[in-house]
Amino acid sequence: MGAISVVALALWTFGVKAAPTIAICSTTFTPVTASAAFKALDPGWNIGNTLDAVPNEGSWNNDPIQASTLATIKGKGFKSIRIPVTWGYHFSDASPTWTVDKTFMDRVETVVDQVLALDLYAILNVHHDSWVWADPTVTNANYTMIEEKFSRLWDQIGARFACKSSKLIFEAINEPAGNTQEHGTLLNKLNDGFLKSINNAGGYNPQRVVSLSGLGQDMVKTSQWFVRGTSYPKQPWGLQFHYYSPYDFIFQAWGKTIWGSEADKASMAQDFAYFNGNFSSLPTFIGEWSAAPANTETAARWKYTDAFIKLCKKYGYSQVLWDNGADQFQRNTGNFNDPTQMGILFSAVQGKTNTLADSTTDPSLTSQNTSAILFHKYGDGVTSASVSYLLNGNTLLSIKSAGKTLRSGKDYTFSSSGMLTLSQAYLSTIYAPTTAPGNLATLALTFSSGAPLTLNVTQYSTPTISQKTYSLSQINLNSEFYVPINYAGLKQIASIKALLSDGRYLADDWTQWLPPLQQARWTMGDWEWKDEGLKLNSNGLAKLKAAGTSVTLTLEFFPRVPGNTVDVTFTQ
Ligand SMILES: *[C@@H]1O[C@H](CO)[C@@H](O)[C@H](O)[C@H]1NC(C)=O
Ligand SMILES: *[C@@H]1O[C@H](CO)[C@@H](O)[C@H](O)[C@H]1NC(C)=O
Ligand SMILES: *[C@@H]1O[C@H](CO)[C@@H](O)[C@H](O)[C@H]1NC(C)=O
Ligand SMILES: *[C@@H]1O[C@H](CO)[C@@H](O)[C@H](O)[C@H]1NC(C)=O
Repeated sequence: MGAISVVALALWTFGVKAAPTIAICSTTFTPVTASAAFKALDPGWNIGNTLDAVPNEGSWNNDPIQASTLATIKGKGFKSIRIPVTWGYHFSDASPTWTVDKTFMDRVETVVDQVLALDLYAILNVHHDSWVWADPTVTNANYTMIEEKFSRLWDQIGARFACKSSKLIFEAINEPAGNTQEHGTLLNKLNDGFLKSINNAGGYNPQRVVSLSGLGQDMVKTSQWFVRGTSYPKQPWGLQFHYYSPYDFIFQAWGKTIWGSEADKASMAQDFAYFNGNFSSLPTFIGEWSAAPANTETAARWKYTDAFIKLCKKYGYSQVLWDNGADQFQRNTGNFNDPTQMGILFSAVQGKTNTLADSTTDPSLTSQNTSAILFHKYGDGVTSASVSYLLNGNTLLSIKSAGKTLRSGKDYTFSSSGMLTLSQAYLSTIYAPTTAPGNLATLALTFSSGAPLTLNVTQYSTPTISQKTYSLSQINLNSEFYVPINYAGLKQIASIKALLSDGRYLADDWTQWLPPLQQARWTMGDWEWKDEGLKLNSNGLAKLKAAGTSVTLTLEFFPRVPGNTVDVTFTQ
């Protein structure tokens, strides 16, 4: 990309201040249809929690964006980068001008240019403004202010980026709040205001591909209330929605650690079919979705990723993976948290058939298995052991560990239905009954098509904690609190059952109607698992305090089998 110079023509009318500045571009622009542009986004990546952090880039869990991160992402094979930006803390004046700080606008332009210089698509938006100041659902929301401020903001973004290449896509607003017709009507007006602003700014904006959305960028609400206005009929445009469903699996809510039953897949397929039923004629992409290692069991996550991408392919929806900087890509090391999941993603995007690790899908069972990890219990004798794969028509090519190829018939057998059995002799080279717990080997399996899979061989025993009772009166409830855990296997909490001393549930009483491994389970968010142990935040501590009586947390670990749990009690 050559240097971009913008000749701005200020049109003056007498006695009044400047009329809109119309950008005249000296750069060239290759027009592209919305459908071609959206198709070319796949797969995309979000540089989340960064320029969208509140109040500033760097305020949350990520350092400011570095060009090298963007280049690494391109090197991994991503074709587009969505750049979420929260503008709300960067206005240097108020109504009626709402001027964006020049330094902030410069900073955003620098990042956009870095993405475009890599010849990737960039999707630039107005992000958490949707709750910082543009939320029509708050009491006494001032719709006039929202419309005015939103239009002035897009006047300025439109002007600054008017001459950028056709690989820059504007997205009007991220996940706009609302749940009524009235909110939907306001959003339709905001979308119109956005089109007017960018078109008034001139340059190449009238030909620029834009992404419009319905409330929440939610499939159902979009189907319900989104109406494209009649202005700027020639603007190339399409729809964007976000997909974080089912909530319980994606956000580790209510003990849900499995995914992949026929019903799970049918429900996901139904979501896509409905959206397509409403908007089949419109170019569409999915600007955010996620199944992050911190929140989901590995084999279930792999199955979900594969099924999700397959549906995206079926309907022609490109997808842009959400990544908050902790979810997927480690910006400091350049590695993914779960390279196997990313392999599955890329290979599914290429239309290849993946083999997948099987895992329990029946929620009524009280014991769950996974074929992403071969767990051996500390103290048990060493015998042959099996995991199973969903071959999807593939065949196994090889299994390697630490550079050595395992011998079929000696080290393992592999059945035509996908059952891998590692022999006692082979497993004896990895562990004895009393080998210290932990991940002891990582096997790499390759198949006739699709992504390679890893199989960890992990010795486990039930974790322990040194302090089993805490008094809330001795804890600073406004801070974070850690319960140290001596993990003995996978360093992860699968779920937490939270019961009051009288047997009542700490949260979500209705979970009594859920299957056994989900009842009384406390949704992640109030708590998190960390390498050090259980982290409770101030919301979590407040819930324990509000219980008014002692609360016992049963921490459950992987594998989710009876007894692989440890209790910790909080007294008032
Ligand atoms: C609503 O916003 C408009 C435009 O910023 C402003 O003129 C008006 O005073 C606001 N109304 C209220 C009730 O604050
Ligand atoms: C449109 O979407 C709604 C909500 O998801 C759904 O109920 C309806 O069946 C869809 N319409 C078509 C024609 O698919
Ligand atoms: C995993 O559990 C399922 C029941 O959910 C069972 O049918 C299957 O044999 C188990 N697989 C392994 C490898 O233990
Ligand atoms: C397998 O083990 C490796 C090395 O310890 C680790 O990085 C990876 O996260 C493990 N994978 C799973 C699915 O636990």
